[in-house]
Amino acid sequence: MTTPTNNSDMPELKKALVIGVGAEKGLGASISARFAREGFHVFVAGRTAQSLEQVVQQIRSAGGTATAAVADATRESEVQALFDQVCAAGGSLDVAVYNAGNNTPGAVTEMDASYFEHAWRVCCFGGFLFGREAARRMLPRGGSLLFTGASASLRGRAGFAAFNSAKAALRNLAQAMAKELGPKGMHVGHVVVDGGIDGDKLRKGRPEMVQRFGEERLIDRGGLADAYWFLHQQPPRAWTFELDMRSKVEPW
Ligand SMILES: NC(=O)c1ccc[n+]([C@@H]2O[C@H](COP(=O)([O-])OP(=O)(O)OC[C@H]3O[C@@H](n4cnc5c(N)ncnc54)[C@H](OP(=O)(O)O)[C@@H]3O)[C@@H](O)[C@H]2O)c1
Repeated sequence: MTTPTNNSDMPELKKALVIGVGAEKGLGASISARFAREGFHVFVAGRTAQSLEQVVQQIRSAGGTATAAVADATRESEVQALFDQVCAAGGSLDVAVYNAGNNTPGAVTEMDASYFEHAWRVCCFGGFLFGREAARRMLPRGGSLLFTGASASLRGRAGFAAFNSAKAALRNLAQAMAKELGPKGMHVGHVVVDGGIDGDKLRKGRPEMVQRFGEERLIDRGGLADAYWFLHQQPPRAWTFELDMRSKVEPW
């Protein structure tokens, strides 16, 4: 594992942390690559060392720098240790992105309590742990704290009660943080991904869905990653809290 170094003759190293990084063709990987392209050293975090290393290699082969960090977003001690690792590496942590949150379909009457609770832990509680640690480490200097949402953030749907409620809770958490931390210098943003992402999750995991929806309806990962960069770039007197993004053919 390579960690960034700081040299007093060089400009201060800028760092970004993205948690919820899995496949090379996933949103977490694309956000990481986007910030690496802008000269950030990116800490890519998730639960699987092997997939993180692949994302790190992808970034390095494009000329960027990155470090893989294994952490489960729902475990307080692991989130704290992750931020310790990132902050110990020198430079300034300017961007923290919470991208964890897999879809959890299921009918209410068939659903175990533990399944519902797990969805909430990944989509909401982890966002709290991550956002809290980001604020503790990034203030008073400030920076961007960005959350990934979904169609579920804005509406409930039959068969998706666990995911819908957890993503909606994450959105309100992000909004509360934006109002609480904004005046102190943290730009908190939320990106509503309103539709299926063109990536491994759907192409490998749900090919039948890709076929049913059609290619045109899948949201471009690069376009999404640009939105995170756009939010980070905004000046403090022109901050956006939320962007909602979908393909042109998405019925909404
Ligand atoms: N894919 C879609 O069509 C779609 C649509 C709308 C919104 N979204 C949102 O987009 C985000 C994910 O993007 P993606 O679907 O392209 O997937 P991705 O970025 O490729 O991967 C996200 C990764 O997060 C990791 N993760 C899950 N639980 C975690 C935890 N507790 N702690 C740390 N890492 C965890 C998983 O990897 P490990 O299992 O290796 O940890 C997972 O592969 C989510 O917020 C999701 O709700 C996705």
